[in-house]
Amino acid sequence: MTSCSRIAGLWCVMAAAAFGQAVHPVGNIFDPQATPAESVYHLSLLVVAVCAAIFLVVAGLLSFTIVRFRGKAGDGNEPAQVYGSNRIEIAWTVIPILIVLVLTMATARAVVTIQNKRAPADALQVTVIGHQWWWEFRYPDLGIVTANELHVPVSTVAKPAVTFLKLQSADVAHSFWVPQLSGKTDLIPNRTNSMWIDPRQEGTFLGNCAEYCGMQHANMLLRVVVQSPGDFEKWTAAQKLDASHDPRREEARAAFLSLSCVNCHSVSGTSAAGTFGPDLSHLMSRAALGSGVIPNTPENLRAWVKDPQAIKPGNLMPNMQLNPGELDEVVAYLSSLK
Ligand code: CUA
Repeated sequence: MTSCSRIAGLWCVMAAAAFGQAVHPVGNIFDPQATPAESVYHLSLLVVAVCAAIFLVVAGLLSFTIVRFRGKAGDGNEPAQVYGSNRIEIAWTVIPILIVLVLTMATARAVVTIQNKRAPADALQVTVIGHQWWWEFRYPDLGIVTANELHVPVSTVAKPAVTFLKLQSADVAHSFWVPQLSGKTDLIPNRTNSMWIDPRQEGTFLGNCAEYCGMQHANMLLRVVVQSPGDFEKWTAAQKLDASHDPRREEARAAFLSLSCVNCHSVSGTSAAGTFGPDLSHLMSRAALGSGVIPNTPENLRAWVKDPQAIKPGNLMPNMQLNPGELDEVVAYLSSLK
């Protein structure tokens, strides 16, 4: 671990302690784990190095001048008043132009290498749709629809795996940002942007919406779960199945399907086919609720269904005013959706 990443890690811990709530650490930008993030990281190191050099030269000359030429006791005369020096003026015009040129070319090269990448034939294709305030992930080739948790295979030298993301928005502008995997790319209504990632380390990478998109922008969190090819295959196989149909939850299922939940949410293999809210077919396979606002535990699920506005004020899921019986049945049914 570099000292930079240690400082960033410490900052996350301090921030989490200060806000005293569920920890949503921001991914460490000094620890890139995919090619696009790495190229952004290298570019930023170059920019920081150039800026640091300029600072040292300017601050050094300034300090030297202040100390060396300061007024001394007994200095009666005003110093010689000099105006203009062609050599110095040319130098301080040409050098900054060269510096800007170098930074522009380095930036253009990084942008072009990332943007011009063609999707290999075997790339995983995912459509990401930003909603106020959650993420929809569609895998068109696999027939999978999920929310807030993007699963992708790890990319190794032996088996490179690239995931191409098509970015769209259902409402306002959002921005997809998983600092350890890539730079930010906006999701804009009536337009399709794209980006790609090739994560080379398994694990969960946290990200968030990086474009102010309304009241709950800060709670539009996402996680990218990078899995071994075997685990990814298992995940896709489970997600492709219709939602589990537990005969012991028949009553709970009927209760859920009779409520207006189905106008906004889909559960595969049932009459619930709404598309305004997250697909619930495999809700229990996800780690968090409300786009990362609380961990997906039985108590939290109950609290969320009871009054989502208390947990994420302003989100588009209303308090359904369920009576205690209905609440029990809805939670019982949702808990069975593995
Ligand atoms: Cu979506 Cu900010």
